[in-house]
Amino acid sequence: MGKALFVRHCAGCHGPEGRGNGYKLLGPDPANLTAITTKKKVDEDLLRTIHEGKPNMPAWKAILSTEEIRNVLTYIRTLTP
Ligand code: HEC
Repeated sequence: MGKALFVRHCAGCHGPEGRGNGYKLLGPDPANLTAITTKKKVDEDLLRTIHEGKPNMPAWKAILSTEEIRNVLTYIRTLTP
């Protein structure tokens, strides 16, 4: 469930395995979601980032439901470096 959403919406920038190796952007590169710095962040922080977006990342709250965003985060938590 979360994986299908990730592949469709997130892999373009974050890469198929979430390592941040999608395409290069101007400005901040997509985060490596398998990195220890992301693993250490609490769910609330990451959910906020996904909901609200970042300078180089779109906000998802208008596109995905709260439940879908939770499912994507659950999938991100399963990614390994
Ligand atoms: C247009 C490219 C793009 C897409 C699409 C995208 N992201 Fe991102 N994402 C980024 C960039 C760039 C950053 C780093 C932003 C920064 O640090 O300023 C980021 C950061 C993040 C972070 C924060 C990581 C951390 O350690 O704080 C999470 C979580 C995240 N993205 C999840 C997702 C999810 C889930 C999706 C799909 C629903 C998604 N992203 C789609 C570009 C993208």
